[in-house]
Amino acid sequence: MSLDINTKLLLVFSLFCFNVVFAGESGARRADLGMEGFEQHGRGLGLSHYKGRSSHLFNVKSFGARADGLTDDSKAFRAAWKKACQAAGEVDLVIPKGTYLLGPVKFAGPCTNVSKITVRVKGYLKATTNLSKYGYSAGWVEFKWVEGLILTGGGTFDGQGAKAWPYNRCPTNFNCKLLPTNVKFVGTNRTVVRSITSVNSKFFHMALVECKNFKGTKIKISAPADSPNTDGIHIERSSSVHFSRSLIGTGDDCISIGQGNSEVTITSISCGPGHGISVGSLGRYRKEGDVSGLVVRDCTITGTTNGIRIKTWANSPDRSAATNMTFENIHMNNVTNPIIIDQAYCPFASCTPMGTSQVKLSDIYFKKIKGTSSSAVAVTLECSKGIPCQDIYLEDVHLDLASGEKQATSTCKNVRAKYIGTQIPPPCA
Ligand SMILES: *[C@@H]1O[C@H](CO)[C@@H](O)[C@H](O)[C@H]1NC(C)=O
Ligand SMILES: *[C@@H]1O[C@H](CO)[C@@H](O)[C@H](O)[C@H]1NC(C)=O
Ligand SMILES: *[C@@H]1O[C@H](CO)[C@@H](O)[C@H](O)[C@H]1NC(C)=O
Ligand SMILES: *[C@@H]1O[C@H](CO)[C@@H](O)[C@H](O)[C@H]1NC(C)=O
Ligand SMILES: *[C@@H]1O[C@H](CO)[C@@H](O)[C@H](O)[C@H]1NC(C)=O
Repeated sequence: MSLDINTKLLLVFSLFCFNVVFAGESGARRADLGMEGFEQHGRGLGLSHYKGRSSHLFNVKSFGARADGLTDDSKAFRAAWKKACQAAGEVDLVIPKGTYLLGPVKFAGPCTNVSKITVRVKGYLKATTNLSKYGYSAGWVEFKWVEGLILTGGGTFDGQGAKAWPYNRCPTNFNCKLLPTNVKFVGTNRTVVRSITSVNSKFFHMALVECKNFKGTKIKISAPADSPNTDGIHIERSSSVHFSRSLIGTGDDCISIGQGNSEVTITSISCGPGHGISVGSLGRYRKEGDVSGLVVRDCTITGTTNGIRIKTWANSPDRSAATNMTFENIHMNNVTNPIIIDQAYCPFASCTPMGTSQVKLSDIYFKKIKGTSSSAVAVTLECSKGIPCQDIYLEDVHLDLASGEKQATSTCKNVRAKYIGTQIPPPCA
């Protein structure tokens, strides 16, 4: 099993530190580069769809973006954001068609007088491959403390990860330097991400940290199956999050739901290749938040190592809980571990496997999980010895072996699951 999840926790931990530093750093709004751009007003530009509402349009090209794919356009992006964020009412920031080379860019709020800010990416954004340009654990394109953001336009964020992946030490070294996430959202409220593509991120493709009311739809994410830590979407300490109608194929989890999340809904996602849809890993650090109110529905998972996975550390330092989670109508195509609860996660030499996970798992429903398993064990429920799982339901599960040979099997530890309806493989004895 890979060490992918550790890096996730490390990311979150370092973000936390970063926030503390950032809070005291008044000069951090790096948009303040003294660059003057030209503000264009929406009125008179034939933008009839604004229906007369006062609207302000800022085009990165008016701020000096070259879009030649060779010149670093970061300064122009920062300058355009600065003006957009200082405007009032409904604001548009437009990145027209063209290829833009970009270093790290932070789109930080608060944008005091802005009610809605639409960032329309029509162009193709290419990340700088020079790794020394990126800060520790920073995103490539980062939205921070923004309210009412809409990120849309059909454009692409290309992390140009292939040149960076050989420098990723995270799969083997716990104290690794984190490579940049393609698009990161930190502390945003009322965010919509629609019709955006992310390819070949150096690290995670999208990450949400402390976001509220987030909707993502029609998102395409792709990276090679063997690219390290290229998770599609990672969600942490966020609430009221809904991702739908998206295609995700990477070298790691399609979607991972970390600690401190509530009311997260994932629907109509096509996942694969990758490591599937994961809750966790949970229970690595002190004072982790609980996870509750997760729904994963109407998804197709193809050729991944896991389908639905819940993973917690074997020796968690504090108690926490993950409860009220429903996985329903999931189709598995040739998935190695279609349903897996693993509460004995303990990958490092420094981790004492003697401990028992203190993450309490309860009220978990697996309903209508169908399709094929590429390994003999299609259902693995390995719960904590110290705090056994409670109220785990399997209803209408039908998982055959992809090879078409003998019947798949189930294994269970420290759990008495409740079975309803069809059960293939047969329940644990
Ligand atoms: C917001 O609008 C108010 C009233 O017009 C103004 O005084 C203030 O400077 C504006 N804030 C910013 C950040 O532009
Ligand atoms: C990479 O970026 C650093 C920091 O900006 C710079 O000093 C260095 O010259 C760059 N390397 C190349 C090969 O462009
Ligand atoms: C988001 O909402 C919370 C309250 O729910 C508030 O404390 C926070 O300041 C808001 N963030 C932004 C960027 O407006
Ligand atoms: C369980 O989660 C669902 C979906 O988020 C929510 O609607 C429901 O109220 C939750 N139930 C309890 C008992 O919290
Ligand atoms: C199923 O997945 C295994 C690897 O997990 C692969 O070797 C095999 O070719 C796949 N079968 C099909 C039919 O795709």
